[in-house]
Amino acid sequence: MHVLVTGGAGYIGSHTVLHLLAAGHEVVVVDDFSNARPTVVSRLEELAGQAIPVHSFDVADIDKLDSLVTELAAEGRPVEAVIHFAAFKAVGESVAEPLAYYRNNLGATLAVAEVMVRHAIPHLVFSSSATVYGADAPVPMTEDLPTSATNPYGWTKVMNEQVLRDAAVAHPWLRVALLRYFNPVGAHPSGRIGEDPSEVPNNLMPYIAQVAVGRREQLSVFGDDYDTVDGTGVRDYIHVEDLAAGHLAALEWIAGHDRALSVWNLGTGRGTSVLELVAAFEAASGREIPYQIVERRPGDIASSYADPTRAQTELGWRTVRSVEDMCADTWRWQQANPEGYPA
Ligand code: UD1
Repeated sequence: MHVLVTGGAGYIGSHTVLHLLAAGHEVVVVDDFSNARPTVVSRLEELAGQAIPVHSFDVADIDKLDSLVTELAAEGRPVEAVIHFAAFKAVGESVAEPLAYYRNNLGATLAVAEVMVRHAIPHLVFSSSATVYGADAPVPMTEDLPTSATNPYGWTKVMNEQVLRDAAVAHPWLRVALLRYFNPVGAHPSGRIGEDPSEVPNNLMPYIAQVAVGRREQLSVFGDDYDTVDGTGVRDYIHVEDLAAGHLAALEWIAGHDRALSVWNLGTGRGTSVLELVAAFEAASGREIPYQIVERRPGDIASSYADPTRAQTELGWRTVRSVEDMCADTWRWQQANPEGYPA
């Protein structure tokens, strides 16, 4: 298939581009590089052994997006599917700047969906998040739980899902997959691409990795009095390579089935506590990770992990990489790129 990948230079997008190319799909990337480095592209080309067309603009710019799709069709490379990653994703920032989050994350999806309808492009895979299960969901989380959110970032995911549900009803030829990611971590086994937060990391794994490599002094563990195995928060960490494989499986499934809207959790189904992840990273890196226990982070929940049965059954996809693999691959990337991608 000819696949347009928005946010294809980002963390999850870049890993997915390699999986698409390896499976023989043709890829065109659109990314505005607001949270990605141009170096990603040369690294991807080196790993893929081929040139990758990249267009640098904001997908919310519907005229530019429409022109690109028109041009590709005129060149005999009509877009047949879109994987839409491009979005802002920092929870704290979304609380401080909700309007920027709603404008960016809703504007991008509206432009993508509208251009798809104009050009009759049927297949859409959308980056959603387990954040749509809100604060009180029972674990393991199944796809039929009600959706809600605790912050503007989370609401943009809930709202985008609704936009796409409505579009799939009105245009029944659309084939939409909503992929609800749990906690993506890890890096490509080459150590050439990985997660490169532009600011102080909000998320646990990149923070641990930066402590291990000496960029930060110690980890703050947000609370040790949750009702979990050791009192620290439990999450379903999923290797980004397994997650990328999940996108390929979802895309190929929707292209072969007549279902307008599909929702799949992408997680391992296993929970790991903060302190368990710290111990696993220490083992993988041979470095000590100093930490202190601090107050709970507002908005955090005790436990979040997937029931991945639906994706396993329908897609024939399952995660194959362990927490040890996630730590080893994160460490390889972090050691080879202590300051992230070169500017
Ligand atoms: C967070 C977001 C979620 C978003 C996801 C991916 C919040 C409340 N949730 O998920 O909406 O979809 O990232 O970007 O921000 N922790 C520490 N110390 C740290 C960082 C984290 O102890 O420095 C703990 C947290 O309390 C949590 C676990 O580590 O128990 C995982 O945190 P994080 O990596 O931020 O992911 P989520 O909170 O699950």
